[in-house]
Amino acid sequence: MPHRMVGPDLRAGRDWGIVDRFGVRRLGSALGREAGLAPAAGGQARPPMAVSGHRTPHRTADCRSAANPTQRLRFHGDPVRPKLPLIKSRFVSFCPPCLLGLYINDFRSTYLMSTKLTWGILGTGRIAGTFAEGLARSRTGTLVSVASRDQGKANAFAAKHGAAHAHGTYEALLDDPDVAAVYIATPHPAHVEWAEKAAARGKHVLCEKPVGLNLVEARAAIEACRLTGVLFMEAYMYRCHPQTVRIAELVRSGALGKIGLIQGTFSFQRPYLPNHRLYDKKLGGGGILDVGGYPVSMARLVAGAAVNRPFLNPHHVDGAGHLHPESGVDVYAAATLGFANDIVAQVSAGIDLRQESVVRIYGSEGWLLVPEPFVVGIDGGESSLLLHRNGSPEPERIVVHAGPLYAMEADAFADALWAGLSEVPVMSPADTLGNMDTLDRWRAAIGLHYPGEGRSNSD
Ligand SMILES: NC(=O)c1ccc[n+]([C@@H]2O[C@H](COP(=O)([O-])OP(=O)(O)OC[C@H]3O[C@@H](n4cnc5c(N)ncnc54)[C@H](OP(=O)(O)O)[C@@H]3O)[C@@H](O)[C@H]2O)c1
Repeated sequence: MPHRMVGPDLRAGRDWGIVDRFGVRRLGSALGREAGLAPAAGGQARPPMAVSGHRTPHRTADCRSAANPTQRLRFHGDPVRPKLPLIKSRFVSFCPPCLLGLYINDFRSTYLMSTKLTWGILGTGRIAGTFAEGLARSRTGTLVSVASRDQGKANAFAAKHGAAHAHGTYEALLDDPDVAAVYIATPHPAHVEWAEKAAARGKHVLCEKPVGLNLVEARAAIEACRLTGVLFMEAYMYRCHPQTVRIAELVRSGALGKIGLIQGTFSFQRPYLPNHRLYDKKLGGGGILDVGGYPVSMARLVAGAAVNRPFLNPHHVDGAGHLHPESGVDVYAAATLGFANDIVAQVSAGIDLRQESVVRIYGSEGWLLVPEPFVVGIDGGESSLLLHRNGSPEPERIVVHAGPLYAMEADAFADALWAGLSEVPVMSPADTLGNMDTLDRWRAAIGLHYPGEGRSNSD
């Protein structure tokens, strides 16, 4: 009777996107109907990758269970996998050697292991493809839908990455009941619009960085997700990598002594193409928004770790940069950040200047070199940190092993969802807002504004 175990959530009128390890729908069909669950849209048989519907309830004035009005429903991170909480404990504790108990225990493990979060991707560009490849290697997720402004591109992407549904509009994907979480992979100016629309349809939101062109937009996207009770994360994927966790641990542990200076760069060289999103101001072009957010977020993370906090925001931001003579976007730029705990950071970014994209953290007892701080281990494997202790002739090599970068991002998101968290701990909404504010101040220092933004961030 496994469906009885999910009673409280069923009473809330909720179902889940589940596909088992064989690609067979496990809930929403016979089991779901038996349990009184609404069938997935259309109710027809689907191809192997298809899954049952997932709907997250919207936050409403009365957020209480119909069956038990005293029980408050959970919103953020409603479990996508059904809970089968009692089977194992009852059988195994009453009858440890009982074969039936072991069988059910095994069924439970198999069932939970096979549950997947169902994803839809908005956009079919470069990072959309990279994320889809990562998702295919994730522990927790499966791609079910993709949307493009062009049906042909959606079809090609779906065929390449094994998505069951290909939509010719983004709206259609948001109406797709099989999609539980949306990954927004459009250029930056479209992020806030689609984050808000996704939230309004009850889809959890993993949004590419930066979430908006500025703090005002980022706030709007985050607020929309908060109000509708869906999980939100800005896709700074390197935050999900154990190397980043290790860096923060090293700082917290005092291995570097008192932190003084952080240097961070993310910069590359891309020839000028007026219509490319990186050079087009209407598409949010320029280095600060595209890659400057990485060293800024790393500096804020390290400054926070030094005082045992998840991040710290700078009290002082100054900057300089070179704007492209035709398009007006920042080709390369640098900023100095000052933090209340006496830490100073120098960060730089660029889209047409090849720089060494590394992070260095200097403390009173030594310094740490992070050779691959951001795009680290797309296929997984080993990465290294070099710890130079004062007085030691050779650096200590600290090796970190990890899975594929974007698979870990998808897993961090799903794990937070299933744990019932209201945010993904490695990249919280408050962290996003602090980062966006710093980028605003960096841009203001070099006089870079985007169309419609005006001269102040308040319009
Ligand atoms: N986290 C990371 O590692 C990482 C890496 C690279 C980029 N990013 C971020 O991801 C976002 C997309 O970057 P990308 O390099 O993938 O860009 P891209 O290759 O240009 O792809 C963007 C996609 O967005 C869709 N789109 C929607 N409105 C558009 C418009 N007005 N103009 C052009 N395309 C539009 C298009 O898909 P359809 O035509 O199919 O609708 C297009 O293929 C950016 O915000 C960027 O900062 C993140």
